[in-house]
Amino acid sequence: MNISTKIKGTGIYLPKKILTNVDLEEMVETSDEWIFERTGIRQRRICSTEGGEFPSDMAEKASLQALQAAKLEPNDIDMIIFASVTPDYKLPNSATVLQQKLGMTNRCTAFDIAVACSGFVYGVNMAHSFIKTGMAKNVLVVGSEMLSREVDWSDRSICILFGDGCGCAVVGQSDDPQGSEILATHLGSDGSGKDFFDQPIGGAVTPINETHLKENSHFMRMKGGEMFKVATRTLAESARIVLEQAGLTLDDVDWVVPHQANIRIIETTARLLKIPMEKVIVNIQNYGNTSAATVPIAFHEAITDGRIKRGDIVLFDAFGAGLTFGATLLRY
Ligand SMILES: CC(C)(COP(=O)(O)OP(=O)(O)OC[C@H]1O[C@@H](n2cnc3c(N)ncnc32)[C@H](O)[C@@H]1OP(=O)(O)O)[C@@H](O)C(=O)NCCC(=O)NCCS
Repeated sequence: MNISTKIKGTGIYLPKKILTNVDLEEMVETSDEWIFERTGIRQRRICSTEGGEFPSDMAEKASLQALQAAKLEPNDIDMIIFASVTPDYKLPNSATVLQQKLGMTNRCTAFDIAVACSGFVYGVNMAHSFIKTGMAKNVLVVGSEMLSREVDWSDRSICILFGDGCGCAVVGQSDDPQGSEILATHLGSDGSGKDFFDQPIGGAVTPINETHLKENSHFMRMKGGEMFKVATRTLAESARIVLEQAGLTLDDVDWVVPHQANIRIIETTARLLKIPMEKVIVNIQNYGNTSAATVPIAFHEAITDGRIKRGDIVLFDAFGAGLTFGATLLRY
C-alpha cells in the first residue's frame, strides 16, 4: 500500500525573557550594529533557569498547540521524536519525559535524536519513513533547545549567535493523496567537518573537571568561517536533491524555510539557488539560532500569519554540527 504523509499541525513555545544586542553590549565587547550587520540578529529568547521553560517544558506547551491544530489527543500520537542537543537530562531521554508530561498512557515509541541544527528536518524525514512503512500513524516531531546553558557568555564570537526555543509538528498519515503530502526527503552527514562546531568536554572521553570550569572550555566551540562556507554549499545541494527527487524546479517552490543561523548564509544560499528572498521565511532577527527549533518556529509563524497556506510547495533546508544536513519538500 502506498501511504502518503503530511504535516497535520504545528506549535511553538518561546521563552519569555528577551536578550537584545544592546543587552549583550553590557556583557561583551560588541555592538548592536556589528551583530546585526554580520548575522541579521537583533534579539534572542533565553529560558528561565528557575523552571517551567526547560526543553521538555517548552515541548509540552508547543505539542499541545500542535495537537490542537491537528485535531488529535495526546494518546493518538504513536511515536515521539525529540530533537535536541540540550536535553533536560542525560537520562532519561526527553521524548519519554514529554510523553509523561502530555499524560500519554499508550506506551508509544519515544526517543531523542542529537543531530544539532538539522534535528527537526531529520525528525520529519524519519517520521515520514516510519509512517510509510506502517510503523506509526501520527508522529510528534519536536525541536527544543536551551542553548543558553551551553554558550560561553564571555565569548563574543559565539554568544551573540544563539537563543532558546521550541517548535514541533505532528506528521501523520495523509488520507488525501491529491492534497497535502511530503513529496521528497534527503538526509546526510559528513564527519570530516566534525571539528567545525563541537563541544568535546563533558562526554565520556573527557568528563568536566575544575580546570574546564575555570577556563570555560566545556562550552560549545565554533569555527564560524568554516561553518559559513560549508553551510551555503550544503543547503543549496540538499535543496537541489529533493527537487530532483520530486521532479520539481525552484520555480515550483512557494516557500523556503531554511535553518536560521545567519542572514548572510540564508541570502547567499538564495542567491546560489536563484530564489528570490521574498519566498524565504526569515525570523532570525527575533530569535537568533535556536538549533533544532529554527525551522519549526519559522514554519509555524509563517502558517499562523497567513503566508504559508495549504497547497503551497514548501522546502525545509537545514545543516548543523556534525556536520549533518537535510531537506524536506512538501505540499503543505
Ligand atoms: C560567526 C560569524 C558571525 C563571524 O562573522 P565574520 O564576518 O566571519 O567575522 P570574523 O570572525 O571574521 O571576525 C571579524 C572581526 O570581528 C571581531 N568580532 C568577532 N565577534 C565579534 C562581536 N560579537 N562583536 C564585535 N566584533 C566581533 C573579530 O574578532 C574580528 O576582529 P579582527 O578582524 O580584529 O580579528 C560568521 O562567521 C558566521 O555566522 N558563521 C557561521 C556560523 C554558523 O552558521 N554557526 C552555526 C551553524 S549550525
